[in-house]
This record gives sequence, structure tokens and C-alpha cells, in this order.
Amino acid sequence: MATWSAPGKVFLFGEHAVVFGKPGIAMAIKPRVFVTVRKARQANVAKSAYIEECFRLMGVKGSVYVRSQLPSSSGLGSSAAVTVATLSAINDEFKLSYSREQIAKMAHSVEKKVQSRASATDTYVSSFGGIVLIAAGAKRRLPPVDMQLIVGNTMISHNTGRLVAHVADMKEKYPEIIDPILDAMEGVAMRGIHKLEEPKELGMLMNINQSLLDALGVGHPQLSRMILAARDAGAYGAKITGAGGGGSMIAVYNKRHKNKVAQAIEKCDGRPIITSIDSEGVRKEKE
Ligand code: MEV
Repeated sequence: MATWSAPGKVFLFGEHAVVFGKPGIAMAIKPRVFVTVRKARQANVAKSAYIEECFRLMGVKGSVYVRSQLPSSSGLGSSAAVTVATLSAINDEFKLSYSREQIAKMAHSVEKKVQSRASATDTYVSSFGGIVLIAAGAKRRLPPVDMQLIVGNTMISHNTGRLVAHVADMKEKYPEIIDPILDAMEGVAMRGIHKLEEPKELGMLMNINQSLLDALGVGHPQLSRMILAARDAGAYGAKITGAGGGGSMIAVYNKRHKNKVAQAIEKCDGRPIITSIDSEGVRKEKE
């Protein structure tokens, strides 16, 4: 029996822009998905298409038990975390000796197969943890910083593929407007790299990024309510994280305002998660 866990992720900057080769910054967050795999002659009915595809890809059969701290369809990379943890648990239980790098790549291919399009960022961040700079398709881990965040889950599920397609349509229809917005997102992310340890500055940049995301049309009234309420309660900054159109928002705050920001999100019918950076990525759990 092998139990592995993998963390969720947020985009600090650059969601949607990364699809067009612009830089983005993503970070692994504490809530995790735990997956236990046990060799079995008779495979259990797989709990998800992702898990089924993991076993198919690894060419083995086993039973699976999943426990998740991450809400699904919330823009926090829960399917990537399930996939990374499942592949790692299978790798361990069946002594297959794949490296973490290989697991991250395989996890991306599993997600692509199941969803037809998938973000390589989610599976990479969940595998390696920490803060990751995505630039021109390549990924580089940035030095971890002690970052505290509040995530607000709208509990409104969204379709990432549809939102990505919407931005592509906008770009095709209004290139003279959308291209400068993507350039501005690049500017925000590039400045963001140097401001990760300055919550006030980080918050300001998040607010700018949020306005740009709104201009792309990936907002949602519930996200806007929660973002404005978080700022009103004292957050330095707040923005959508991930594809938008529902899903989640994030806020950076001064410690004094932590409870007020969380309560403001709750008052807007959102579910707050007080969290921080995860710098481990996928890891083996004690049995
Ligand atoms: C979704 O979490 C982030 C997007 O930028 C899509 C992607 O990076 O593949 C919207």
C-alpha cells in the first residue's frame, strides 16, 4: 500500500496570458489531495476518469482511496493534484521508478486525454510545489517566500476550455485592444517577480491584473462581489485565480485583517480558505 499527496495551486499573475506565451506566476498552496493505492488482482471501479487514465497509462491494476482537502472545479488545480498523487502512489506501490519530472509530464498527458485541453502549469506546480514562473512555455521555480493568502471559492463551477476559447475569440476579433491587455499582464507579472515579499505592492499589482482579467471578460458577478468585499475589509489586493467565470479568487492581506477579509468573503456566500505556500509538492505520506 502506498499513500501520496499533492497540493493545489493558485495563479498569482498571468492566467490566460500564459496561453499566449506571456509570463505567469503560479504557486502551490497547502490544501492537498491524498491518494492511497494498493496492488489488487481485481481493480476497484475507478472513482474518476483521471484515476482510470493513470492506471491505464502505467499499465497496472489496483485499488484506490482518495481523500481531498481541495474543492473540485474551483480553479485550484484539484484534478491535477489527484492525477499527480495517483501516478506517484502507483509509481511507488508498483516500484516503477519514474522521476518527479516524468510524473509531472505524465500527469499533464493524463489531464489532456481526459479534458482534451489542460494546463501544464497545474501538474508542474502540484508535482514540484513552491512558486513557479511560466515564461514562453518553460517553467522555472522561483525562491520560495513565506506567502499567506486567502482563497475565496465562489462554489460556482466553470469551464476552463470555454473561457480560454472566449479569450482567443476576443483576441482574434479585437487584436488592437486585446494584445495591449496581454502586454500589460506581462508587465504586471514581470514586476510581480520582484514583489513577492512585499504584500502591499503585490496587492496593488493583483488589483491591476484583476482589472485586465475583467477586460478580457472572464469575470463573474460573484467573483467581483467577493474581490471588492475583500479589498473593502482591508486586503492589500484581490483577484481571480485561474480561468475565472466562477471558481476562486485570492487576496493578500495584512495579518491584522485576516479574519475581517475571511468574514467579508463569507458574507458574499463565498467559502474562504486561509492558506499559504506549499514548498514540497508531491510527497509520500506515512502509512
Ligand atoms: C487555468 O488555471 C489557467 C489558464 O491560464 C489556462 C492555462 O494556463 O492553461 C486560464
